[in-house]
Amino acid sequence: MTKPAKRAQILEPTEANIQVAARILKQGGVVAMPTETVYGLAGNAFEASALSKIFLTKERPTFDPLIVHIAPEKATLADLMREQLIYPHDLSDSAIKRIDALIRKFWPGPLTLVLPKSDLVPDLATSGMETVAIRAPKHPVARALIRELGLGVCAPSANRFGRISPTSAADVLEELGDRIDVILDGGPCEIGLESTILRITEDGEPILLRPGVVTRGEIEELLKTKVLDPRETGEGGPQIAPGRLASHYAPTKPFVILPNSIAQMMTPPALGAAKPKKVGLLALSGKSAEWAETLSEILELPVVAEILSEKGDWEESARNLFRALRRLDASDADFLVAEPVPPAAIESNGIAYAIADRLKRAAGPRG
Ligand code: TXA
Ligand code: MG
Repeated sequence: MTKPAKRAQILEPTEANIQVAARILKQGGVVAMPTETVYGLAGNAFEASALSKIFLTKERPTFDPLIVHIAPEKATLADLMREQLIYPHDLSDSAIKRIDALIRKFWPGPLTLVLPKSDLVPDLATSGMETVAIRAPKHPVARALIRELGLGVCAPSANRFGRISPTSAADVLEELGDRIDVILDGGPCEIGLESTILRITEDGEPILLRPGVVTRGEIEELLKTKVLDPRETGEGGPQIAPGRLASHYAPTKPFVILPNSIAQMMTPPALGAAKPKKVGLLALSGKSAEWAETLSEILELPVVAEILSEKGDWEESARNLFRALRRLDASDADFLVAEPVPPAAIESNGIAYAIADRLKRAAGPRG
């Protein structure tokens, strides 16, 4: 079987090329654009046919809502109200104060706010929910493109549904190259993990729907209140944050997270019934790459390792996570394993927590 041809062009983000991309968006088409988190598949947020194209291109079920990306120049709380993306009467004073504080501190940047939506926001963007996810990206190319279009673009990560998010133009080409015409190349993503998603309820209650590099700790410090977990509020189901589906960000090869200690790895065998020929290890640091050798001895198999951060820095690990998973997926290893993020790090470091979240979903049950 021959692979479908890759027709997408990777374009340098010159002014002329941004115009080319903007023209496609204005005509109701879709293009891939860089953001500081991951690459997004952009389409006009206020045009239903563009939104359908996004869902079709990604093979994404329409029950999974999109994030509306707005230009930082129009991203104060007053702007959101003036542009009628949200209504002031839907929010308590406390909610308004908190949203304002979050926007001032974290926008433009990797924080998405889920707020009660106005009638202006198309149902297709929000999958019929009463709330809308909004974010103001920091990446200059995303900003320029949104500014050209006016109010907003919807941009889910530019991968096929359920797969690993792209952090470079080449990744997008691999994911969607046979389905779109233009990929604006903004270089490798600086953050590498999707934005933190925080819901603010009508009463101002903050609920963390997706962890990211804007951490729970930073939000709690700013708002001087506890950030709730969707499990605590009964809002953890797929209808509230479908990104919370168990399997997401998944490589194509079998992938498991190793137990916390080598001793546990020996009983029962970490790989279950699988009989691989070569194992790909996602190692957290240079030190833990030594694990590869021990692992190789225990399993009596060759092991190739991808190291997330030589010195074990969490920000660097976040930046490299999806790239490393993709590389292992493309390697000659036929079974992938990840070193577990230590429980103490998950407890104490918000970025380690976000990485552990993505790994858990990448290794989640597939269906
Ligand atoms: O960093 C990011 O956020 C990237 C870049 C491209 O901006 N975008 C991104 O989009 O990750 P996507 O579509 O792959 O993930 C958005 C998540 C989905 O899991 C969706 O369920 C959730 O946001 N979401 C969107 N609207 C929501 C809403 N109203 N309530 C709860 N969750 C919502
Ligand atoms: Mg995604």
